[in-house]
Amino acid sequence: MELEVINSVEKEYDEDSAKVQNLNELESLRLKYLGKKGLITDIMAKFREVPAEQKREFGQKVNALKNKIEASVEEIKANLAQKAVDEEIKNTKEFDYSLPVDTKTGSLNPRTIIQKQVVDIFKNMGFIVEDGAEVETEYNNFESVNVPKNHPARDMQDTFWLDNGQLLKTQTSAAQNRILRDYGPECKVIFPGRVFRNEQLDARHENTFFQLEGVVVGKNVTVANLIYFEKEMLKALFKKDIEVRLRPGFFPFTEPSYELDAKCPFCNGRGCHTCGNSGWLELCPCGMIHPNVLRMGGIDPEEYNGFAFGMGFDRLVMIRTGLDDIRHLNSNNLKVMSQFKTKM
Ligand code: DAH
Repeated sequence: MELEVINSVEKEYDEDSAKVQNLNELESLRLKYLGKKGLITDIMAKFREVPAEQKREFGQKVNALKNKIEASVEEIKANLAQKAVDEEIKNTKEFDYSLPVDTKTGSLNPRTIIQKQVVDIFKNMGFIVEDGAEVETEYNNFESVNVPKNHPARDMQDTFWLDNGQLLKTQTSAAQNRILRDYGPECKVIFPGRVFRNEQLDARHENTFFQLEGVVVGKNVTVANLIYFEKEMLKALFKKDIEVRLRPGFFPFTEPSYELDAKCPFCNGRGCHTCGNSGWLELCPCGMIHPNVLRMGGIDPEEYNGFAFGMGFDRLVMIRTGLDDIRHLNSNNLKVMSQFKTKM
């Protein structure tokens, strides 16, 4: 008698399960048979009433039915999911991959593009490329490059001080000391980087701008070597020979110090808008590294010497792109940036 109940529940399940159309109905089905108050639970409760000699068979049959229903529910679930995917595919319009696409692609900041070009040029001349931190110690940014406290040069670089006594580096020269220590007396290293000064903003001044610094240290390094590397860099960048000149400059970290100008590559020195009619572009402050700086970098100035330069990188980018407002370079205005995709 009890065994017949199992058969009839199985039959009922087969009929019910064949009708299931969606996940809601499937859940009702599951509850009807496998739920706490479901039919399988009901049958199991009857176990006590089953005569002893039938208990074994009864138990096996109930378990088999329970397993069957569980597996069947899972199978229906998988089928419904597959049906949903098929339906979606059926309703999706075919995509024509040959149609022209009207999406805007991004573009790099011209500063990024030119920095990569200049870095590659120096790399090809055997320079190692380094970078520096943006938060620096007072020692690295000033003292180690021969700018002691109360030195007037500190006033020229309005500094963003942090509460912990550190600062946002005002010059890439801040990495000189570490680089001299890391690479020792014979080295050729460039280190581009972002620098910060508390400046009033206008078309030529930003509080966040980029420099590209270089140091070369060895035996018998001369100003002629410095001029050579700068000229090679300009030649590779502007694809022609460019004359340079040195004017006297003053920097605490170099002695002697110079301002290196390049003959304007646009008017070849005749005078134009870019060079302000002077025929020359101020390119790069530089000089022979001061013995104090070498000494603080762990290098004996009696035995070795070297040169350093610290190009204002944004200026170079403006010359190269014709952008007349430095603020464009930090704005990341897409209208401006996208012009340089193909031009450079
Ligand atoms: N650090 C200087 C500045 O920000 C630029 C500079 C001048 C760097 C001369 C040098 C150098 O390495 O030799 O104004």
